[in-house]
Amino acid sequence: MKGVVLAGGAGSRLRPITFAMSKQLVPVANQPILFYGLRDLAEAGITEVAIIISPETGKEIREAVGDGSRFGITPEFILQENPDGLAHALKLAMPFADGDSVLMYLGDNLVRQGVSDVVRDFEKHQPNAQILLAEVPNPSAFGVAQLDDEGHVYQLIEKPADPPTNLALVGVYLFDSTVNEALDAIEPSHRGELEITDAIQYMIDSGRRVRASMIGGWWKDTGKKEDLLHASELVLDSLRTSLKGEVIDCRLRGEIQVGLGSKLVDCDIIGPVVIGDGVEIERSTIGPNTTIGDGCRITDAVVRKSILMEEVELSHWRLRDSLVGRRASIGGSAPPAFVELTVGERSEIIG
Ligand code: TTP
Repeated sequence: MKGVVLAGGAGSRLRPITFAMSKQLVPVANQPILFYGLRDLAEAGITEVAIIISPETGKEIREAVGDGSRFGITPEFILQENPDGLAHALKLAMPFADGDSVLMYLGDNLVRQGVSDVVRDFEKHQPNAQILLAEVPNPSAFGVAQLDDEGHVYQLIEKPADPPTNLALVGVYLFDSTVNEALDAIEPSHRGELEITDAIQYMIDSGRRVRASMIGGWWKDTGKKEDLLHASELVLDSLRTSLKGEVIDCRLRGEIQVGLGSKLVDCDIIGPVVIGDGVEIERSTIGPNTTIGDGCRITDAVVRKSILMEEVELSHWRLRDSLVGRRASIGGSAPPAFVELTVGERSEIIG
């Protein structure tokens, strides 16, 4: 089986962060989201992996993944000129698949239990396609499945206004080579994309065997800030303490990681918190559920349930539920209350 990881797309729901960077490289616990998926594939024994990239962010994805050896994969990068849909991206990877089965993984998704179990299940039952489902509170944001009394999928609808069930399609799909026919047959949807739900529906309607299973453990699509922060919270939940930097006169509670060369002075750190390398923090309260990227400088501030990417400068403000892009700077006279921000790369906020 080969892997196809989708790391293109527009990322419009994560603007302004995605004006300057790929959403798949946004860090969760200081690791790009994409890396979790690549490790999941390697762990399931899938080592040949096509990575779909866009013209805007392809270069940084290539650089971040490199030769793939640290994940245990061999990547092949495939350029998708426009974000023409998940099925369009998969279609571009069909020459790479070259008749093998494929596991398609959405590069902005996080799957707690990895994909080894579903790969084994697919190999055991040998359906033409296999999807994973999860119960969600907001099904209209996803592809949604309807099952018959025996649990077979009979209908899939992409982002329905009036969802018939709360069963969302998780961003992991497995196909054998019969998917080719479906990818060739479908037409763009009303939003102009080749929909993967239409391709799977085509397979169902033409008598192919489409198997569905419920996902065990949590799954998160990180396309929006709230989901990203929630994903971060879920990942941080299994954090273990490791203090490599200097911690001076600080009050520490819960699981905390402090990276090499970092220095924390007179701070309250409430885990789970990940602090990267070369970070300096003074007289501040950090956490819980917070990630501070490498090289950040924070003074007299409070940061709760937030992600600060690399080299952010923050002083005096109180942030919660915030996502702050690389090299952004937030300072000046701060508002008296907590604020919730999404700040793009290199932006400057002066109160
Ligand atoms: P989506 O989150 O559905 O789409 P998007 O990235 O365009 O985001 P938004 O709706 O906020 O504009 O995509 C799921 C994953 O698939 C994500 O990692 C991006 C990737 N993708 C592609 O690689 N090519 C595509 O044509 C599309 C639509 C998505």
